[in-house]
Amino acid sequence: MASVTSLSDSVQQHLASALSATLPEAAGADPLLRRSDRADFQANGILALAKKAKANPRELATQVVSRVETGDELIKDVEVSGPGFLNITIADRAITANLAARYADDTGRLGVPTAAQPGTTVIDYAQPNVAKEMHVGHLRSAVIGDSVVQLLEFTGENVVRRHHIGDWGTQFGMLIQYLDEHPHELDHKEAQVTGEEAMSNLDRLYKAARKLFDSDEEFKTRARRRVVDLQAGDAHTLAMWQKFVDESKIYFFSVFEKLDMEIRDADIVGESGYNDMLAETCRLLEESGVAVRSEGALCVFFDDIKGPDGNPVPLIVQKSDGGYGYAATDLSAIRDRVFNLKANTLLYVVDARQALHFKMVFETARRAGWLNEDVTAFQLAFGTVLGKDGKPFKTREGETVRLVDLLDEAIDRASAVVREKAQDLSEEEIAERGAQVGIGAVKYADLSTSANRDYKFDLDQMVSLNGDTSVYLQYAYARIQSILRKAGETRPAAHPELALAAAERALGLHVDAFAETVAEAAAEYAPHKLAAYLYQLASLYTSFYDKCPVLKAETPQQVENRLFLCDITARTLHQGMALLGIRTPEKL
Ligand code: ARG
Repeated sequence: MASVTSLSDSVQQHLASALSATLPEAAGADPLLRRSDRADFQANGILALAKKAKANPRELATQVVSRVETGDELIKDVEVSGPGFLNITIADRAITANLAARYADDTGRLGVPTAAQPGTTVIDYAQPNVAKEMHVGHLRSAVIGDSVVQLLEFTGENVVRRHHIGDWGTQFGMLIQYLDEHPHELDHKEAQVTGEEAMSNLDRLYKAARKLFDSDEEFKTRARRRVVDLQAGDAHTLAMWQKFVDESKIYFFSVFEKLDMEIRDADIVGESGYNDMLAETCRLLEESGVAVRSEGALCVFFDDIKGPDGNPVPLIVQKSDGGYGYAATDLSAIRDRVFNLKANTLLYVVDARQALHFKMVFETARRAGWLNEDVTAFQLAFGTVLGKDGKPFKTREGETVRLVDLLDEAIDRASAVVREKAQDLSEEEIAERGAQVGIGAVKYADLSTSANRDYKFDLDQMVSLNGDTSVYLQYAYARIQSILRKAGETRPAAHPELALAAAERALGLHVDAFAETVAEAAAEYAPHKLAAYLYQLASLYTSFYDKCPVLKAETPQQVENRLFLCDITARTLHQGMALLGIRTPEKL
């Protein structure tokens, strides 16, 4: 087993056994260990335990302390402070030795353990809509979802990815009917183009069709009939639909590639993929009484969901004309994910503005027995991307911003930054790094605030070299690589016998906490916790570098040990950034 117990877990175990030896009823209790400014760690759990046992907390703490083994192996010193806290100092040797064990992990996982009994999570993310241009809203689902996939997989979870693209419903009847009536609107243009350009043609077609649909009642009726043809599998209609889907997918792939993100065709199961389940889903809901007919529509009602007029707002599973909508598809997808994919957890990375939809869908699935204590669903809801003015992000003309334009601009800005700082990079390298820095900047800005909050899309800030940006982290990584190159023949090597400077201890303790941070970020679906950890890692590295000469350290052992600290910091940065979907170039 390459897995390494973290220092904090080891200390935790020591404290827990000293505690249960002192107070048998406290067996299994959490000593509540935290990193602290006073010492390396502080344990605050004794207060509550003493209160429960009606004991004096300071006395209890003193007794526990007398049972804690101290020395060079792990805990150098432990003392009682305040009303009954424990302040714990870790031995320098233990810090270096633990990091050395992580460094020796040849799986590249830095000793981070995997779950003993992993579950299966189906994650629904990166779900653009067919025949529509991707906009900045689609960025968040893709970026957050991709990072959560990486995090969960790293902890050993079984992850099934689902890209629930919008490829079904009324709008396709409209599009197909429009194209049938205006056959030349796409053909001659589309003949020579693919990808982005074809997509903006499709997008234009979509807008024209929409306009007609909204203004011409007869066209609306013909379009509605076309949806019925589509859902019934009419060959000509299906063939036209397939064309839209294929064209759009080529475009999606080009955007995801620009985002440096792997999206696999097999994981794209759009709304249309559940078409065959819709009738059955409705039948099951109606027969079990979960859904009832109301004015011809099949509805699910909720006591706590009412409109502004006080009337209940139902979830409509089937419309009165027999058509199925978004809810029927999502309910069918739940059945598929629970019963066919055998998921324990369903995760949806979707805009917070769809919270009510998911609340109703999940509650319906619970009533139907598809979700329960063993199979749970959760919407990882994200906030809105805002412009610099704090309003939802729009172009100066008030239109939604195309995602591709935004990414291109980020890459341009980043390339300028790279070019300015570049010392020995070729034009080709500048272009490659520019893309890695620009895309990294966009992803990091998104991932470094907690998902549920809105954030401002500010490219100047995002590509800044100072502050909490990916560029700062990428430069920290590249700087370490340059030191390692300069070291030449001298290789990093751990020397646990050496005393550590304060900046070395702080850096070392933080590096050791990587495993806990990843576990927490994965369990809470919170990439921002990992981002905050990495930023602090880079900051601690900077102070270490300022205070502790590496190649000019006093003894050869100290040079090696500091190179070792540099290298394990770099590996941690690299792994952590990879979990955020961000590259760490070797040279910048
Ligand atoms: N395509 C939808 C949109 O662009 C998001 C789909 C979310 N996933 C789901 N299972 N409903 O808003």
